[in-house]
Amino acid sequence: MSRHVVITGASSGIGAACARAFAKKGDTLSLGARRQERLASIAPGAFCHALDVTDPGSVERFLAAAIAAHGPIDVLVNNAGLARGVEKIAEGTGEAWREMIETNVLGLLEVTRRVLPQMMARKHGHVVVIGSIAGHKAYPGGGVYCGSKRALQPICEAMRMETLGTGVRVTSVDPGLVETEFSLVRFRGDAERAAKVYTDMRPLTGDDVAECVLFAVDRPAHVNLDTIVVMPTDQATPQMVHRGGR
Ligand SMILES: NC(=O)c1ccc[n+]([C@@H]2O[C@H](COP(=O)([O-])OP(=O)(O)OC[C@H]3O[C@@H](n4cnc5c(N)ncnc54)[C@H](OP(=O)(O)O)[C@@H]3O)[C@@H](O)[C@H]2O)c1
Repeated sequence: MSRHVVITGASSGIGAACARAFAKKGDTLSLGARRQERLASIAPGAFCHALDVTDPGSVERFLAAAIAAHGPIDVLVNNAGLARGVEKIAEGTGEAWREMIETNVLGLLEVTRRVLPQMMARKHGHVVVIGSIAGHKAYPGGGVYCGSKRALQPICEAMRMETLGTGVRVTSVDPGLVETEFSLVRFRGDAERAAKVYTDMRPLTGDDVAECVLFAVDRPAHVNLDTIVVMPTDQATPQMVHRGGR
């Protein structure tokens, strides 16, 4: 049966790959991102609408339009997120910290809190959170990004407790290095520096992560995958990356 799948941050990378993967399954999609103009070509037939998760009004408008277009939401993929900069704490700026926390934590909460009550009332639904290996292990220059992703763990844990008995599932999919626009955004458009992150190693693709998301969502209703940590074979921790081939 076709599911109504809502994906935040579907204009690029992992979100776009998830959109393609669910579309291939025949699911009904609602896609949101700030760069709305990119969305239409990601998965033809999907409902596309502007979304800035840091703006509660935008979240409200996006979800109302998605529900008007396709009805109640069966699957929410909370993917919108970013890292900004690699400044150490002593060198950091409030602007970048706020951007990461407002997007990765508060934005996710603003979307999720509006979708959960409907899912709980219908006794059916799946909230997927795209976390990160950064939420499991910190690294210098990544403190606030790592903190924003670590914060998603107790948020998911509490959601599982708060939805217990309603049939709602909560899964965190936590990848290591994935080649997307993530590093371009992190390095503020410096393409050369961004490319170096993936040099001489084989990173995950957005499709690899989308397969994990789809696997979790496709389990039978009585099975909840709590957390999936998915890493490139060439990566052991955020900082330990094998480069140069085998
Ligand atoms: N790439 C990696 O190595 C990696 C590893 C672990 C976890 N992750 C996580 O995976 C998720 C997706 O990242 P990605 O790697 O696919 O990077 P990406 O290619 O830069 O995609 C990020 C997506 O998030 C959207 N986004 C950012 N801020 C937003 C906002 N305020 N409102 C709505 N959408 C917003 C962007 O769309 P617009 O700019 O058009 O709004 C874009 O579609 C993020 O949560 C990231 O932290 C990535």
